[in-house]
Amino acid sequence: MKFSSMTAMMLTLILFGGCKGEDKSAIIQLPQPKLTGSVSVEAAIAKRRSIRSYSDRTLTLTELSQVLWACQGITDLVRGFRAAPSAGATYPFDIYIVIGKVESVEPGVYKYIVKSHAIVLHKSGDLRSKVMKDCLGQRFIGEASATIVLATDFQPTKKYYGERSYRYVAMEAGHIGENLHLQCAAIGLGTVMVGAYRDRELQQTLGIDKLPFYVMPFGEPK
Ligand SMILES: Cc1cc2nc3c(=O)[nH]c(=O)nc-3n(C[C@H](O)[C@H](O)[C@H](O)COP(=O)(O)O)c2cc1C
Repeated sequence: MKFSSMTAMMLTLILFGGCKGEDKSAIIQLPQPKLTGSVSVEAAIAKRRSIRSYSDRTLTLTELSQVLWACQGITDLVRGFRAAPSAGATYPFDIYIVIGKVESVEPGVYKYIVKSHAIVLHKSGDLRSKVMKDCLGQRFIGEASATIVLATDFQPTKKYYGERSYRYVAMEAGHIGENLHLQCAAIGLGTVMVGAYRDRELQQTLGIDKLPFYVMPFGEPK
């Protein structure tokens, strides 16, 4: 699809979808993701490594846009299909971003609005060190400029796949995580998949009811 028609369709989605029930004044529109890059997928796979040390550089909105798009951005505008595969296209995850240092964005917890490629404020304040504590004190989470947290109640997938949904949702988290890893490797950022966290504490810190299902800090490698 040509970039111009993609832009037009994205604008339609921004105007007519994805913002139901949200305070529109708190919505931050993200720049369009780039659909071409200078690093091949093979080079990104070869370069990918878990990164646990980050500089304190403020990330650009363009970088934030790119990593969120790689996780769950819409890549088929007609059917609404996303960057990572999903069992029956049920898309069970909410995507939260704990922002510490991103240009033009106040620190806080934001929710990714997939249909509009935008973020909306969910909870104010720099919560990185609280999230770090909830993740058993893994220091790099406090250092990373931002952290993506997947959260789910399994319901969209459970409705169609019953007990198998637990497996399917876990598989899908892996797809999203790998997309994030490879996108970071391709644009000079680093990330690490974190599975060690206390559910209840992290839910409280983020102000969410759904189950946190992967914590993914990212930033410029130190
Ligand atoms: C499900 C899962 C949970 C993980 N949890 C953590 C974690 O809590 N903390 C951490 O530092 N790394 C975590 N990792 C990252 C692994 O330690 C890492 O992938 C492994 O050491 C291989 O290194 P590589 O990713 O650089 O290839 C996790 C990875 C997976 C797949």
